[in-house]
Amino acid sequence: MNLQGKLYGEVIGELKARKSKDPDLNSAHLFGLVYPTGREDIESLVSEVSQMYLFENALNPFKFPELAHLEEEVITTVSNLLSRKETSRRGGAMTSGGTESILLSMNVHKARACAKGIKSPKIVAATSAHPAYAKAASYFDLELIQIPLDNSFRPDLDALKEAVTEQTAVVIASAFCYPYGVMDQVEEIASIAQSVGAGCHVDACIGGFVLPFLERLGKEVPPFDFRVPGVTSISADVHKYGYVPKGASVILYRDDDWMDHQVFLYDKWGSGLYGSASIAGARPGAPIATSWAVMAYLGVTGYCELMKSVMTVSDQFSDLVRSTDQVELVGNPIGPVVALQSDQLDLFGVGETMEKKGWHLNRNTSPRGLHLMFSPIHEKVIDALCSDFEEAVNNHENANSEQARYS
Ligand SMILES: Cc1ncc(COP(=O)(O)O)c(C=O)c1O
Repeated sequence: MNLQGKLYGEVIGELKARKSKDPDLNSAHLFGLVYPTGREDIESLVSEVSQMYLFENALNPFKFPELAHLEEEVITTVSNLLSRKETSRRGGAMTSGGTESILLSMNVHKARACAKGIKSPKIVAATSAHPAYAKAASYFDLELIQIPLDNSFRPDLDALKEAVTEQTAVVIASAFCYPYGVMDQVEEIASIAQSVGAGCHVDACIGGFVLPFLERLGKEVPPFDFRVPGVTSISADVHKYGYVPKGASVILYRDDDWMDHQVFLYDKWGSGLYGSASIAGARPGAPIATSWAVMAYLGVTGYCELMKSVMTVSDQFSDLVRSTDQVELVGNPIGPVVALQSDQLDLFGVGETMEKKGWHLNRNTSPRGLHLMFSPIHEKVIDALCSDFEEAVNNHENANSEQARYS
C-alpha cells in the first residue's frame, strides 16, 4: 500500500484501464462463467439494489431482520420452483455459490451418515459431476467414488449399482451436468441411492433456473426435483440462469431437520451466541437483495421469456452443428449448454481460429472438443457466431495449445 492515497479519479482511471484488459461481458463473445441478459432494465435494477445493500451484513438476522426476511423469501421462492413441500421451517439457506451449496450438502450428508454409524462415508458421483464434489471429499474427509459414463454421456447405472454400498452417504445426480449439458437419470439414481439408505443430491446449479422454465415452455423435462422420491437435497444457483451477480445460490433439503446439521452454533467465547447457517461468517447483503429483486421483477413469465430466447439461440447453433458433417453434439443436451466433438477435425484448432475472430469458446478434454453456455445476450450475435463457426470449421489450422481450462 502507498503511504499516500491516490486521487479518486486516478483510482477509477487505473481500474478502468485494467478492466479493459478483461473481456467485455456485453460484447456477447463469452460462453461461460457469466450469464448476461443484455437487458438494460435488469442491469439497472441489479445496480440500484446492489448499491442499496452494499455494506449490509447478513450474518446476524437480529441486526438486519428485514434482510433475513428477504433471504427467507428467496429460499421459499426457489423451494416452490423445485417442488419442495411447504413446511413451517425453512428447509435451506442461501450461499455464496454452487460450490458452497454443494460443500454444505456433502457435509450434511456426512453428518447423517455418521449418525447412522457409517464409519467411512462416501460420495458416489459420475465423472461428469462438478469438481466441487472432489473438493468436498478433500475438505471433509469423505471418499469420492467415481462412476464412468455410458455412451449417452450419462452415469453408467450398472456401474452405479455396483458402487453404492451401506457406506455410501450420498449419490449425485446432475440436472444437468456442466461438461455436456445432459440430464442424468435422476429418478433411477435416487432410487439406487434409496436402496442402500443413502441420500441423493441433485446438482441443479445450472438447471435449477433452467428446467422449471423449460417445463413451463412445454419442453419434456424428466422429473428432477423434490417430486422424485429419494432426492434429499438440491442446489440451485441464482447467479447463473437466475441472472443475478455472483455470490448467490440456494441449498435445499427435503426434510426440515437436515438444516440442523448445517447450522453452526457456538457460545464458548466472550461475545455471546454465534450462529451461522453457511460456511462464510459475515455475508454480503447484495446477493440476497438482488436475488429477491430480480425474481420479484421477472416473475415466472419474465424467466420464461428469457429462457425462450436463450433456447432459440442455442437451438440455432445446435441445428447448425447437426447439419455440419464433421462435427457433432456430445450426448443429448437438454438446455442451453452444449458440447461439440469430432473424429474428423481438430476442434481445438477450430477454437483457436474462433479466438482470432474474437469468440471465446470453452474447451473440453473428454471427449476433446468445444463447449458453449448460451445466455440471452447471444441473441444479438448468433448469426455472426454461426457464420464464423462454419467458416472456422472449413478453414482452420491445427491447435497450438492443448490446454483446456474450465472457463
Ligand atoms: C453443474 C454445476 N455444479 C456446480 C457448479 C459450481 O458453481 P459455482 O462455480 O457457483 O461454485 C457449477 C459451475 O459451473 C456447475 O456447472
